[in-house]
Amino acid sequence: MWVIRDTLGMTGTKYGCGIAQCGACTVLVDGQATRSCVTQADSVVGARITTIEAIEQDPVGRRVVEAWVGQQVPQCGYCQSGQVMAATALLQQTPKPTEEDIGAAMTNLCRCGTYNNIADAIRSAAAQG
Ligand code: FES
Ligand code: FES
Repeated sequence: MWVIRDTLGMTGTKYGCGIAQCGACTVLVDGQATRSCVTQADSVVGARITTIEAIEQDPVGRRVVEAWVGQQVPQCGYCQSGQVMAATALLQQTPKPTEEDIGAAMTNLCRCGTYNNIADAIRSAAAQG
């Protein structure tokens, strides 16, 4: 995460807990939602890493962002880039997720409590797919 933020200057990826609990730092590593705060840079050499800055270049990611805007999901916004990354990974792998799939995939924490809006946005993005 610090390579992404400090070296590469892409500050959309957030630091929350630093111990793989909150998901604020989530990025995609070869399409898998990955908590970058506990990921060593040398462990992902050669992997394709996507951060929130590029998520709208992916059609699923764009749909997720549009649904996030449509549902007005963010409150303070701090957790939301990680939430969008987790939701995009879910819909890339499971385009029509069940409620159980959503619950299992969306383990990121939100101190503002936007969970219901997040679930609505994921349903909306899935319906558009
Ligand atoms: S900052 Fe990485 S999971 Fe919380
Ligand atoms: S929107 Fe504030 S922490 Fe999630």
